[in-house]
Amino acid sequence: MKPIFRNILMSAALIGIGSGIVDSAAAAEPVDPSLTANQILNVAHRGASGYAPEHTLTSYELGEKMKGDYIEVDLQMTKDGQLIAMHDETLDRTTNGTGLVKEYTLDEIKKLDAGSWFNEKYPDYAKEEYAGLKVPTLEEVIQKFGKDARYYIETKSPEVYPGMEEKLLEILEEYKLTGVNAPSSKVLIQSFSPESLKKIHDLNPDIPLIQLLWYDETAAITDAELEEYKTYSIGLGMNFNRIDEAYVQKVREYNLLIHPYTVNEKEDMRKLLDWGVTGMFTNFPDRLQEVLHEKNNTH
Ligand code: G3P
Ligand code: CA
Repeated sequence: MKPIFRNILMSAALIGIGSGIVDSAAAAEPVDPSLTANQILNVAHRGASGYAPEHTLTSYELGEKMKGDYIEVDLQMTKDGQLIAMHDETLDRTTNGTGLVKEYTLDEIKKLDAGSWFNEKYPDYAKEEYAGLKVPTLEEVIQKFGKDARYYIETKSPEVYPGMEEKLLEILEEYKLTGVNAPSSKVLIQSFSPESLKKIHDLNPDIPLIQLLWYDETAAITDAELEEYKTYSIGLGMNFNRIDEAYVQKVREYNLLIHPYTVNEKEDMRKLLDWGVTGMFTNFPDRLQEVLHEKNNTH
């Protein structure tokens, strides 16, 4: 079946991708050696969110300690135009608030508890210090982890938040994570929305982009789709349990990176690595680290 961009799926429109030619794809080549297929990227999905409340500074910190190469940050935008780290468009699942993020100011969101839900849902991993954790802004994340960290940032629901891309690029520029002399591998921007990625590509063609895909059946990808993705992105991310080795190899033949999500079991990690993926998103970066270590010691 055709791939589906999840943001579009959510608004009930299913879209296939147009065609192009492989050689027209120069705009999206990786420009940093660490963004080649030679390095397997361990992406701490919402931080080490298997162990700590997702998208909190605590979860991101743990992701770094567990040797995640990238901190994954999903973005939402507040009523007063601030970018915050949160997966859902609503506050309900991961805070003690309720309703749409876009209807609350940052000050209001800062009063919420973004940790207690985790203790209730995952008693085996619960910790007292998680209660009362705050929702961080993107700026706070960057201020805490600095220029040495790497950020894998997703524009979530960009159709709901006009100006989200401009605001994101403004912040990245302000903190010198993009622009002249900024290593291109410090920030990857991902989205299910091709429109959002193409807009970013037009605003700053030097930022490496990852097109996210969602399959609700066995994944298949055409040459025309790959050619189109290559015109603006350096790689693809998709739900791992719909792909097979042939799919992975086809993406790799186009010199696109492939980062499936969200891979939490070691057995799946090993299988995907054997198929040739170039990294993956995981809630348990320590497990992926161990699997990579095993592999390095057996070759
Ligand atoms: O961004 C990769 C993966 O995180 C996409 O799914 O829903 O967890 O943001 P989601
Ligand atoms: Ca994400």
